Order: sequence, then structure tokens, then C-alpha cells
Amino acid sequence: MKRKTYIVLTGLVIALTILSFSFSHFEEIPKSWDVEKIHSMHLPLPDSSMVANPVSAEYYYQLPERKAFKAYPFYMPGREPKGYYEWLKQQQPEIIFNAADLKTEADWIKAGEIIYDMPEVYEPIDSVYLASLPELEKHWRKFIPTTKDGVIPFISIVVREKGRLEVGSRTCGMCHTKVMPDGNVLKGGQGNFVFTRYLVSLLRVQHDFQNVPDSVTSVRINAFNRLLFEAPWIKHENQERLKKLSIDEWLNTFETRPGVLHRPGTGLGYPVNVPDLFNVKERKYFDRTGHLQHRDIGDLMRYATFNQSADKLDDYNGFTSFNRPADPKKGNVTRFSDEQLFALAKFIYSLQAPKNPVVYPEALLKKGETVFKEQKCFTCHTPPLYSNNKLTPADGFTPPEDHFNKYDIFDRSVGTDATLTLYTRRGTGYYKVPSLIGAWNRTAFLHGGYFATLEDMFDKKRLNDDYIPTGYKPPWLEHIAVKGHLFGTELNEEDKAALLAFIRSL
Ligand code: HEC
Ligand code: HEC
Repeated sequence: MKRKTYIVLTGLVIALTILSFSFSHFEEIPKSWDVEKIHSMHLPLPDSSMVANPVSAEYYYQLPERKAFKAYPFYMPGREPKGYYEWLKQQQPEIIFNAADLKTEADWIKAGEIIYDMPEVYEPIDSVYLASLPELEKHWRKFIPTTKDGVIPFISIVVREKGRLEVGSRTCGMCHTKVMPDGNVLKGGQGNFVFTRYLVSLLRVQHDFQNVPDSVTSVRINAFNRLLFEAPWIKHENQERLKKLSIDEWLNTFETRPGVLHRPGTGLGYPVNVPDLFNVKERKYFDRTGHLQHRDIGDLMRYATFNQSADKLDDYNGFTSFNRPADPKKGNVTRFSDEQLFALAKFIYSLQAPKNPVVYPEALLKKGETVFKEQKCFTCHTPPLYSNNKLTPADGFTPPEDHFNKYDIFDRSVGTDATLTLYTRRGTGYYKVPSLIGAWNRTAFLHGGYFATLEDMFDKKRLNDDYIPTGYKPPWLEHIAVKGHLFGTELNEEDKAALLAFIRSL
């Protein structure tokens, strides 16, 4: 080879290597609000004539962008350092997320954690609020877990303007963070902040202590009903009940328990299990009903913005759960930037389920694994994810023929209560097979969180009409048989203990 050609070729190889290197480190940020992708991501509602129409990209991108301000710990009232609120009033606002500074994968993940904890809602900490703190504490100490230092890690105090303090809430971490029994904070764990009880505590203290009149409380409750539960095209008692409850009955029904929440689009009295966010990258469907597909990182970004308020702008053939601001720039609806969503998604993909600190004897685990195989649990809870990533039709739902080509369907009903998936806005007709990884750390099982422990789920007694669920139960029922998913309930005590140890080791 001539020397000149050799130099040119070597130069070319070097140039190409550099180029491919820089390309491999350059990942384009997907556009989150792509109406076509939002439509194709959704599974149809069981009544497929009803379609949720999102706002246009033009409208969405005019919504004001959320900003991540430095946040400070919120202490259980009485546990804050002396003079804390006065000190906070001296602090300057500071913006802590800036996409232009992010270079490496690690930078994006770290910044994603900021977005995970970035509030959507701010409420003023004024003199009325400060005076109500001892009252609120009486409610909160009964159900809000704190860190060893007395911090409530689910909400924060934010300074967006010097001297004006606000409670920041509705972060991803509010529902997807678990305070462990030792007071450590586990991000991505099945959240144990019962947001529904927190909301009820605020409404009760406003009503009973701040003398907010019934008429105002009723207006708020009606707005919650519309935002969260109403679906005028659905004929089911859960729609009728909304019209009948007194304030007190509504507040009692709205409350849930650790691991279950009333999310927008569920039914009042039919809340949904809070998922942990480990191994999310491996999951093909989001939500218990498999409501949305997860095809790539863009879909996770869409899920995040959608479920953090953009879904309330949907139009269901004329029904909206919220009045769309005529001018998106001027209403009170805000949105994430695509850079924020990209960072957030990277952070979520980075979350790993912690191992159970309890170590079971090797022989017990071997036996448990054998039972798991003998009982054919693996046909649905297939390793390594311990889910086959498929959707099972609920009782009363026949999958339309074209679904078999479009979705991953395991055509066998497990027979659990069908209300959530047939008679709510989150419905599809299916329940997905959840992953069992990290199940040792959950406090609510099955889509409605009827059981507080795995023992309760595999106990045959739950099939009796006089059964009182250890997890969530609608308050208008004294007792209820929890049917469905009978696998493993007929095992003898020894095999069951081994099976549960095996599940707890995953
Ligand atoms: C008010 C509580 C709440 C907030 C705030 C919240 N989530 Fe969720 N999240 C839930 C509940 C409850 C579900 C289960 C919904 C279902 O199954 O229908 C869920 C489901 C999910 C899922 C689907 C996981 C799966 O396997 O099904 C993802 C991903 C997720 N949330 C991420 C986020 C992100 C990111 C944020 C912040 C932008 C966020 N969530 C904010 C309560 C919340
Ligand atoms: C035909 C498929 C199928 C088989 C077989 C099966 N499961 Fe499941 N499993 C599911 C589905 C679907 C759900 C969710 C149902 C719901 O939420 O209503 C589930 C839920 C669970 C849950 C609750 C997880 C959570 O976080 O809510 C556990 C635990 C579980 N299964 C364990 C087992 C064990 C152990 C076996 C074998 C003895 C087994 N399953 C057999 C489909 C199956």
C-alpha cells in the first residue's frame, strides 16, 4: 500500500472511531408529547367506542414548565430544629436542575432524582397553616412514618421567593418512596405515605379547626370526584355512590391504607395497589390494568407527564375531568420539560430492588422453588422478572380478536374482582401479571391491595363471605370474600411456608 493511501486510510479510521464514539454517547431526547404515540401507547378502554383524546402538542408545549427549586426537609410538627421556619425565611430561592450542565449518564441519573422529588403542587405556609400544625400533627402521627430525625420525606418545604415558604407536594417520591421500619428512606419502594389520608387530614383540619364551611368542602369534594372517579358513560354502582355520600362518608371512603391509593381514573372504594419502581425497564405494561404500553424510554417519559396531571386534560367524547384552561399559558396546569422527563426516566431505570435482609435456610428455599415449579407459578411469574409480562383477561371480558396480534395476552382469567379494569377510566379488561421481585417488601397484594401480607393472600379463609381483609376493604362492607388467584391456596402449611420464603428471597 502506498504511504499516502495508508495515511489517508488511518486518518479515516481514526475519524470514524471518534465519530462513532461520540454518537454512542449522544442519545437523542425523545419528544414526550407526540399525540400519535400517546394514542398507540394506550390500550383501548373496555368500551372501545370511548376514546381519551389528549390535548394537541401545540397546546401542551405552551403549558408553563415546572422548575426545580431547592427543597428543605419537612419535619413532623414539633420535631423541627428551633427557629427552623424563621431560618427558612432567610433562604434565597435556588434552581437546581439545569439540563445544559448534564454531560454523562451518571449526571442525567443524578439530576433525575431531583425531578423525582420536584413538587407539582405548592401550598402556602402562612400564619393560619403554622397555627394548624399541632392539629395536623394529631392526625399525622397516626399514619405518617418519619425518618429517625423526624423528617417526613414525602413532602418538602420550598422557597420559590425569599421569605415565602410553601409545602411542596405531589412529587413522584410522595407515592413511590418507602420509609423502612428502621427509618431509612427507600426511593422506588412501594410507597407507605397514604396520600389519601393526608388529603383527608387537610380537609378535616380545614373544616373542623379553620372553620371552612361545609359548602366549600363540598365543592372541593365534587372537584375530586370529577378529577379522580367520574366516567359518565360507565354504568356501575361506583358511579352512583359518588352522588350519594355525605361529607363524612366521603372522607371515610376516600382514605386508604399503606400500599393502596385512589389514583385519577380509579373508582371510589376501588383504589389501586402502588407499584414499586424496580426493574421498570423490563416491564412491558404500566399499571395493574396494563393501561399503557412501555415500548421505550419515550413511553416512560410520556407515562410520567401523563400521570402527573397531563391526563386531566383528556377529552372523553365531551367529558373532561378538569376544565382545560382556554389559554394554556395562563391556567394553573404546568408540565415537565422533555429534558426533565428524560433525566427522570433515567433515574427510574437505575432503581434496583434491595435484597431481603432476612436470609432463609438454603434447604427451605430449594423446597420453595420446587413448590413454585410444581404449582406452575412460573407459567405466569416467569423468571428472571418473575412475570411473563402478559395481560390476563378479567372475569367477564373476552379479548377482541385483534388484541392477540397487538398485545401480549395470556388468555386465562385469574378471577379477581373485575371492577377496576371493567368499570373505571383506567380500565382495559385485563390485569397484568406483576413481578414478584421485591415482593418481600410490599404491604399490599393484588390489584386492590386486599392483603397486608403474603400469608393472608395464600390463606383459604379469604374465600369465605365473613372474611375481613387485612389490607384494603371498602368501608361500606363489614366483610367480604376475596376471590380469585387461587394458586397455592390449597398447599399444606409446610409447602406454603417454603413457597413464601422463596418468594421473599426474590
Ligand atoms: C399520588 C400518588 C402518585 C404519584 C404522585 C405518582 N405516582 Fe406513580 N403510581 C401511583 C399508583 C397508585 C400507581 C398504580 C397505578 C395503576 O396500577 O393503575 C402508579 C404507577 C406508576 C408506574 C407504573 C408502574 C407499573 O409497573 O405499573 C410508574 C412507572 C410510575 N407510577 C411512575 C411515577 C412517576 C415517574 C411519578 C412522578 C412523575 C409518579 N409515578 C407519581 C401513585 C403515584
Ligand atoms: C395464570 C397466571 C398466573 C399463575 C399461574 C399464577 N399467578 Fe400469581 N398473579 C397473576 C396475576 C394476573 C396477578 C395479579 C392479579 C390481580 O392483581 O388481580 C398475580 C398476583 C400474584 C401475587 C401478588 C403480587 C402483588 O404484588 O400484588 C403473588 C404474590 C403471586 N401472584 C404469586 C403466585 C404464586 C406463588 C403462584 C403459584 C402458586 C402464582 N402466583 C400463579 C397471575 C398468575
